[in-house]
Amino acid sequence: MGSDASDMRIVCAASGGPEVLVPRELELASPEAGEVRVRHDAIGVNYIDVYLRSGLYPAQAPFTPGFEAAGVVEELGAGVAGLVVGDRVAYAATPAGAYATRRNLAAARLVRLPASVSCAQAACSMLKGLSAHYLLHDSFKAKPGDHLLVHAASGGVGSLLVPWAKRLGARVLAVVGSSAKIERARRLGADEVVDASSADFVAHAKAFTDGRGVDCVYDSVGGATFARSLACLRTRGTLVSFGQSSGAVPPFDVLELAKRSLFLTRPSLWDHVDARDELETRAEDLFRLLADGTLSAEATASWPLVEARAAHEALQSRATTGSILLLPS
Ligand SMILES: NC(=O)c1ccc[n+]([C@@H]2O[C@H](COP(=O)([O-])OP(=O)(O)OC[C@H]3O[C@@H](n4cnc5c(N)ncnc54)[C@H](OP(=O)(O)O)[C@@H]3O)[C@@H](O)[C@H]2O)c1
Repeated sequence: MGSDASDMRIVCAASGGPEVLVPRELELASPEAGEVRVRHDAIGVNYIDVYLRSGLYPAQAPFTPGFEAAGVVEELGAGVAGLVVGDRVAYAATPAGAYATRRNLAAARLVRLPASVSCAQAACSMLKGLSAHYLLHDSFKAKPGDHLLVHAASGGVGSLLVPWAKRLGARVLAVVGSSAKIERARRLGADEVVDASSADFVAHAKAFTDGRGVDCVYDSVGGATFARSLACLRTRGTLVSFGQSSGAVPPFDVLELAKRSLFLTRPSLWDHVDARDELETRAEDLFRLLADGTLSAEATASWPLVEARAAHEALQSRATTGSILLLPS
């Protein structure tokens, strides 16, 4: 059968604040053809979960949030090859539905975990780490000597993006939102750290590059930083705008880019892991760098799944660093 008495999920009952996340019983059918049922050991919490919950991204309530988790395969639907019951697997995938003790999802979205990566590490790093991968290899191809500015550098994605950029030989100016986060950004390997609550990151970007401007800005903060991120760039530099934790980027005049022949891209992870070979290659690279110590994916905080609301409150309050988890039991 699909579920047992302890099974539960979180439901986003309507668009709104963290209080709209409520626990509900879970009734799960057997997996359909091409699907597997996964019992979750750990569930990743991501800022995209906030966008869907708040209504910034359209979602039809009620729904179960969450795009990232790791656990154990419990049952195979018809026609599934390459996985067996008992395999440890992880995913960063649509549709939403990870805030649950178990779920069914397409086998093609799962990657099998190597022995070196725990379920908790995978749930901390699949969505954020695969994002760091494409941001550094596709949105802007970071090379030795490139000067990069990374916003929210002590956050979930930032904590993987910064050491990965260093591994690729780039120089990294890390921007953090409070003095409490400076030390973490330094430990991640950033060459310089700016606390944007007390200093002008545009001036720092110029000083960091002897007045030239950085080659690329990775901006996930959005509305509050977008215009100033453009000001940090060198002529022909690239702004990778990949999130909006401070709110949506306001309407933008494309002629702003013409002033210094700037590049602007607004990418999404889903377009970079849709093809199975891309998903596998990126996951293999991520797991290798976790295993050799280049990257670390330890949760800095976790909550029981039933307390998803508290996890969202913490993430939105800017109190968290690194990756945070929900634990089903
Ligand atoms: N496009 C994609 O493919 C993709 C994939 C993954 C993630 N993302 C984006 O990457 C970003 C980071 O995601 P994450 O899950 O790892 O979250 P996170 O970085 O752990 O948390 C968000 C951080 O944003 C900063 N921030 C600045 N202004 C804020 C505000 N007004 N309210 C809340 N936070 C604010 C805070 O860091 P400071 O206090 O240091 O400023 C906060 O800790 C999000 O924007 C997410 O949407 C995009």
